[in-house]
Amino acid sequence: MTVAFFDTKPYDKPAFVEFGTAHGLEFRFFETKLNASTAALAQGCEAVCVFVNDTVDAAVIDALYAQGVKLIALRSAGYNNVDVRHAFGKIHVVHVPAYSPYAVAEHAMALLLTSIRRIHKAYNRTREFNFSLGGLVGFDLHGKTVGVVGTGRIGCIFAEICRGFGMRVLAYDRFPKADSGLAYVSLDELFTQSDIISLHCPLTDETRHLIDGAAIEKMKKGVVLLNTSRGALIDAQALLDGIKARKIGAACLDVYEEEADVFFEDRSGHILSDDLLARLISMPNVLVTSHQAFLTEEALRNIAETTVGNICSFFENDGICDNELCYRCGHIERCKKERKERCF
Ligand code: NAI
Repeated sequence: MTVAFFDTKPYDKPAFVEFGTAHGLEFRFFETKLNASTAALAQGCEAVCVFVNDTVDAAVIDALYAQGVKLIALRSAGYNNVDVRHAFGKIHVVHVPAYSPYAVAEHAMALLLTSIRRIHKAYNRTREFNFSLGGLVGFDLHGKTVGVVGTGRIGCIFAEICRGFGMRVLAYDRFPKADSGLAYVSLDELFTQSDIISLHCPLTDETRHLIDGAAIEKMKKGVVLLNTSRGALIDAQALLDGIKARKIGAACLDVYEEEADVFFEDRSGHILSDDLLARLISMPNVLVTSHQAFLTEEALRNIAETTVGNICSFFENDGICDNELCYRCGHIERCKKERKERCF
């Protein structure tokens, strides 16, 4: 069994080689991302393994299908880069629903603390023996209100961490959890009452630009925005406008709408062509990490183990895999809990 592995990074290989070898899988590692021009690299492979910035649109799916690829194995939880609808009836799609929700939730809190206590600025200062405190005044998290948008695996853990800091937690979810003990409010209430807003919902047609100019207008002056979910949840231009208008107190971004051509790569010797990203990064109250929230040892091992398990389960189990993303049932993820048989 050979799997074409796209967008390979050095940190991906060890665990995938270890778990793959143990299960008789051979990975062909390609550094290039999957797109219409690179799909031919999967020739002779039964499956492709892709990450968040690979392009798996209709054209790519058709090209893979024509080559005989039977499975697209996402090594991520999010799948907004895959046209699951177009894949239906042609190629099965599996993902890693949870590998370490703690990794992402803890990173969100790390960004928040770094930002509001100016740790990044203090670190740079003391390295140059500048021990002054000017401009480093932060604020207590204790007693503040945090709004959590999306109370799935990551959002619930983030809410729990915030409770540990003595914060009041408000929540919004399209599908609220009945017995979660969370105080659900409307999105508008969350916007108007929160000192800090953290996004943990998936990117869908409905959530694209969830945070736009109108949403920012409703927020408290000085609000801190955290996005460790998907970049396009926030209209980046509206965010920049909100920062320039002094409405937004700080923004912590692990994801960015146009990150695909920038994040995960060393661009330090290049001229950054994305003016919006450059302007955001230049702001003293914006903290950017490059889609790093998942990157812990535990998560990397879980991702590799689950992905290898998904591929083996699919090919050894007559196409049945618990982590299949199914378009037919209309619930994409939730359907798998209800069905016992393969979807097509
Ligand atoms: P999950 O599926 O457990 O939770 C998502 C929650 O969002 C669910 O409770 C769902 O009901 C809710 N939701 C769906 N549509 C919504 C809407 N329109 N408005 C509000 N809530 C809505 O997913 P999980 O594991 O908690 O991950 C959340 C997101 O985090 C993923 O979709 C992914 O985009 C992102 N992520 C980012 C990573 C990073 O490295 N920065 C790593 C892993 C995930």
